[in-house]
Amino acid sequence: MRLDKLLANSGFGTRTEVKKLLKSGLVYVDGKMYKDGSIHVDPEKSNVIVAGESLVYKEFVYIMMNKPQGYISATEDQYLKTVLDLLAPEDIAKGLFPAGRLDRDTEGFLLLTNDGQLAHQLLSPKKHVPKTYFARIDGEVTEEDIEKFKNGVILEDDYETKPADLVILKSGVVSEIELTITEGKFHQVKRMFEAVDKKVLFLKRLSMGKLKLDDSLQLGEYRELTDSELNLIQN
Ligand code: URA
Repeated sequence: MRLDKLLANSGFGTRTEVKKLLKSGLVYVDGKMYKDGSIHVDPEKSNVIVAGESLVYKEFVYIMMNKPQGYISATEDQYLKTVLDLLAPEDIAKGLFPAGRLDRDTEGFLLLTNDGQLAHQLLSPKKHVPKTYFARIDGEVTEEDIEKFKNGVILEDDYETKPADLVILKSGVVSEIELTITEGKFHQVKRMFEAVDKKVLFLKRLSMGKLKLDDSLQLGEYRELTDSELNLIQN
């Protein structure tokens, strides 16, 4: 792989930024300084040092984020803040994107990766990966709603939802629930409650497949998945 590509893939910035870094004489490969990024290096074998620190090459990056409200699940937008804006520049590996979407006003578990294959596995409707949400609902959520969600509700576009598991945590003027769905239609949770004449006031994703949001992550914080977490979604 070209040295400049390796540096860009490893989060050292855009092509221009990588060029500058090289020019500044801070990049060594196997003990020799390189100012030109066109040389080929084997990321598995070469010892690349950037500003005195050894580069640890990882082909793919997997980040768990506790998404705050006010950010869209996209990689760029002309007007709105995206979840990538929450990452430190050195953590923005090339090709990183959010695997799955949360609405701008939804909080919680978001996986960011540059592993397209894994993202596809998690998001493919055929795989039925369960996603669990916590929500506050305007109105009283009832046993009847549990039954309805179990049997599938008809959304306003006539789509019938797959069986979903609704758990009432607190029922009242404002109810609190957990809902597990195995699909990911646009605004699905909000539209499912609309189908039973209720409104979602607050929504947070708690888990995706076997991966649970690390509750020590504050809103806007993120960390890489551990190897055991990665195993949970790779198998
Ligand atoms: N369902 C919604 O309505 N919104 C989300 O952000 C995720 C699921």
